[in-house]
Amino acid sequence: MGVEVAVHGLSKSFGRTSIWRDVSLTLPAGEVSVLLGPSGTGKSVFLKCLIGLLKPERGSVVIDDTDLVSCRESTLYRLRRLFGVLFQDGALFGSMSVLDNVCFPLREHTRKSESEVRRIAREKLELVGLGGAEDKLPGEISGGMRKRAGLARALVLEPEIILCDEPDSGLDPVRTAYLSQLLIDLNAQLDATILIVTHNITVARTVPDNLGMLFRRELVMFGPREVLLTSDEPVVAQFLNGRRLGPIGMSEEKDTATMAAEREHARAGHADGGEDVRGVVPQLEPTPGLPPRDAVRRRRERVMRMLPTLPEAARRSVLASVDTQEQR
Ligand SMILES: Nc1ncnc2c1ncn2[C@@H]1O[C@H](COP(=O)(O)OP(=O)(O)OP(=O)(O)O)[C@@H](O)[C@H]1O
Ligand SMILES: [Mg+2]
Repeated sequence: MGVEVAVHGLSKSFGRTSIWRDVSLTLPAGEVSVLLGPSGTGKSVFLKCLIGLLKPERGSVVIDDTDLVSCRESTLYRLRRLFGVLFQDGALFGSMSVLDNVCFPLREHTRKSESEVRRIAREKLELVGLGGAEDKLPGEISGGMRKRAGLARALVLEPEIILCDEPDSGLDPVRTAYLSQLLIDLNAQLDATILIVTHNITVARTVPDNLGMLFRRELVMFGPREVLLTSDEPVVAQFLNGRRLGPIGMSEEKDTATMAAEREHARAGHADGGEDVRGVVPQLEPTPGLPPRDAVRRRRERVMRMLPTLPEAARRSVLASVDTQEQR
């Protein structure tokens, strides 16, 4: 079963540049979460802090009662084995075939026989639809294929925590839909705790149990999907609807004069180019034949306990989804 990842008061800077500060959130065990945020807000840096590749100045990342920020190197090495990570650039070895790339963690971290290593690697490549590309070099396949090869590699050690940095970037809409389904299916099969960074609004709306958003060097919000999908918070609403109208500008922040002018423009009925889908759309479910997601039941209890503290719209949406689940 997946493990909880509890982040408390985390701050990260490079030299004098603060990337984000005082970030606290808990990735509930076995649930799927998505982290959103405009480009450059430090999402990739956050993932790297979670696995201890970058060291935050303050705060803690607690897994299994151990703080990964302050623990010894040997403990960190052990904890890292819980993770499967898909880096934003795929991070494949350019001189190794796709198959060897996927075999790599197994050869490095296990004592499995060569035939067993290859069997597992081929199975994961099959899973991401790359069965035919195993002998190719990373430079010989498309960007989206490299991304999927990276995902296959992230999965070979049966991780309890899966971090995916923009798994959908460079994928066409059909592949993105398959990928969304794959993530939910993996969650049903492994009960792994999953954190996905994405700019894809459809993925954000349909895949995760929880959503979070980084903006202006802070975690603006983190919580159950019903809360963010019904939120009036301007940054969250703008991002989830992919609109120009709102506090996020081309270079991240807008001044108040620009925002006022844009509001006038929108009020006059001009189109904005956003998706403007509102409310809580149904969440993806595992492919028929797979076991149900254990996380759903645990999450229901967790969110019901939070219910009195939630905004009205979120509360109604939680109750509606509980109704639907119970009718099944
Ligand atoms: N190793 C590093 N040294 C110095 N600065 C860094 C380092 N890694 C990242 N940064 C800076 O941290 C900031 C956040 O980078 P990050 O890659 O986390 O953004 P992001 O939210 O993932 O953006 P995108 O959506 O474009 O991937 C950027 O300004 C970047 O230049
Ligand atoms: Mg990034």
